[in-house]
Amino acid sequence: MAPKLLRVKVDRERCQGHARCFALAPELFALDEFGNGRERGDGLVAATLEDKARLAQANCPELAIEVTEE
Ligand code: F3S
Repeated sequence: MAPKLLRVKVDRERCQGHARCFALAPELFALDEFGNGRERGDGLVAATLEDKARLAQANCPELAIEVTEE
């Protein structure tokens, strides 16, 4: 069985710029010019960063971070 791939994505409609994602997982998230969170690149999460992806998701006050498995 192929190992699962995690991908993070910020819901642009929900994000209010709390920046918890960037504070907790700067490898996975950046802030745009308005201070709103954005997944870096295509959002794919290296295996070593899976815990950080889950942590960021759990700490977004707007529930704006989606973590999907592929
Ligand atoms: Fe936005 Fe949540 Fe990050 S509100 S900036 S996705 S912590």
